[in-house]
Amino acid sequence: MTMNMRKITEKVFWLGAVDWDRRLFDSLIPLPDGTSYNAYLVRGSDKTALIDSVDPAMTGQLMEQLEGVESIDFVVAHHAEQDHSGTIPVVLEKYPGAKVIATPKGKELLMIHLGISPERFIEVEDGRSISLGDKNLQFFHTPWVHWPETMVTWLAEDRILFSCDFFGSHIATNELYVTDKGRVYEAAKRYFAEIMMPFRNVIEKNIAKVKKLDIGLIAPSHGAVYDEPDFIISAYEDWVSSSPKNIAVIPYITMHGSTALLVNHLVAGLTDRGVRVEQFNLADTDIGKLAMALVDAATIVIGAPTVLTGAHPRVAYAAFLANALRPKARFASIIGSYGWGTRVVEQLSSMIPNLKAEIIPPVLCKGLPREADLDAVDALAGAIADRHKEAGIL
Ligand code: FEO
Repeated sequence: MTMNMRKITEKVFWLGAVDWDRRLFDSLIPLPDGTSYNAYLVRGSDKTALIDSVDPAMTGQLMEQLEGVESIDFVVAHHAEQDHSGTIPVVLEKYPGAKVIATPKGKELLMIHLGISPERFIEVEDGRSISLGDKNLQFFHTPWVHWPETMVTWLAEDRILFSCDFFGSHIATNELYVTDKGRVYEAAKRYFAEIMMPFRNVIEKNIAKVKKLDIGLIAPSHGAVYDEPDFIISAYEDWVSSSPKNIAVIPYITMHGSTALLVNHLVAGLTDRGVRVEQFNLADTDIGKLAMALVDAATIVIGAPTVLTGAHPRVAYAAFLANALRPKARFASIIGSYGWGTRVVEQLSSMIPNLKAEIIPPVLCKGLPREADLDAVDALAGAIADRHKEAGIL
């Protein structure tokens, strides 16, 4: 049975679908807690708007919820990614008079991805309002949360900000409002890390833009509604800030135990010096957790054994991912063991051009680490702690 439409205020309703079973997004991003695709219905005295839709896999649920809705005048498409827009063509078929409201870039992408014809659109400039009678929808362009075309909608009469991916969290829940803040904080941070971290400078501007509004509720398109908006806004402000925290992230893998010995020695040295460590064995790690750790870390040390003169493929994958996510880390290094020869430093260094980090001299050893190798690792721990002190975070 499909969940019914749920009332938020007198004329504003939640619709959508909770995807309890989904475990992977984009064939890449782990979803340990499932997700939800939230749409919203706003009924004005003259016109009705549907805000976003649901993933195509859940089309039936949205259309069942819309069975009693006789007319829709506008479909607000905040974002062209199909988990929100994928059902819009079906909605447009049911409501032939409905127009899609999108940014100019959104229109272009919706035409490309979904084949919606150009005459179905109303393009909105930043700040434009559209009246529903006694309610007005105002649209603010907020690029890169999560694609370049994204926008949010402000409903001043009810003080609701409809934010789509912005402030969202992948959690399957039937709670309309956030209750477990700890759980939501972690899921929202994971979400930010996986898809928004590369754009944090633009997102900082978007936060400043929406902060000017007198927000009562933030209604995202994934996860529950925030009735304490400051909670998630201040979390975002922390995540986008350019100041890292006193954390060293160590993604590593080991083949015969030697790189693990180096990593363990480094962790002990960092611990003695008061540097917090987040260690991830890439043989079996949740990439989302690694991404979350990268949100705050000041230092990244990659633990890389050599395979056929280059990095272990799982390390190369992690380096590729870290480069794409553009974390704020200021320092980086590499440690690892090799069998007979290695080009791991040259290879990994060339894979992380987006990291604007100072490279602290790597420590590589041939085979089992000897005392001199462990001393070099200890010196690396000291160098990291010194850098953190100089940066004022230790
Ligand atoms: Fe939830 Fe970028 O889509």
